[in-house]
Amino acid sequence: MKRIVVLISGQGRNLQALIEHCAAGHIPARIAAVISNRADAPGLQRATQAGIATQVVDHKAYASRDDFDAALMQAIDAHAPDVLALAGFMRILTPAFTQHYEGRALNIHPSLLPRHPGLKTHEAVLAAGDAEHGATVHFVTAALDGGPRVLQGAFTVPPQASASVLAEHVMQDVELKIYPQAIAWLAKGELHLSEHSAFFRNRALAAPLTLHDVEAVFQ
Ligand code: GRF
Repeated sequence: MKRIVVLISGQGRNLQALIEHCAAGHIPARIAAVISNRADAPGLQRATQAGIATQVVDHKAYASRDDFDAALMQAIDAHAPDVLALAGFMRILTPAFTQHYEGRALNIHPSLLPRHPGLKTHEAVLAAGDAEHGATVHFVTAALDGGPRVLQGAFTVPPQASASVLAEHVMQDVELKIYPQAIAWLAKGELHLSEHSAFFRNRALAAPLTLHDVEAVFQ
């Protein structure tokens, strides 16, 4: 059985979806550990309730980003993961870290990348007057929110939507569907990264897959 390590910093709604889809057998893997950089991340409780080992690697305890990333890599590698899932993990990672997990690590980001990398994406969508919004799963590389895109879900921005309405829409209608699907594909060996391109079933993806490609169990 393939092994997944999940990195979180916050609520863990994406983590919860991964836990449930692993339990249901839709993702052919088990979550070996959940690691947070914040001891107060509510997502840690979700892991504990599911009987999953948790660990905190507090970034404030390390003098540099390099030292933190080295400690984090040690904690992750103790579980020998096949898949590393960043699920609301709010730290910028060093190239040494991203290279070590290249091809094994995915991230979920709440915007239609390459639009709006970084924080406050819902506010950025409103400020730009974008017609569409959504979320993106991408391979983790040294480029912040810039690795090859795998799967994207989009919707039309409703008139007069607030940032919090958009945030809820992105989470419920996009993130919780696309992330478990992408993690399932990676665990099954259907996704890979080569020469800085994402491949799905051995074909290079010229554009990310969409919600239409998501299987019924993840809808
Ligand atoms: C999600 O919007 C994710 O895309 C972003 O951080 C948020 C995490 O939410 N990277 P949760 O911890 O999964 O509830």
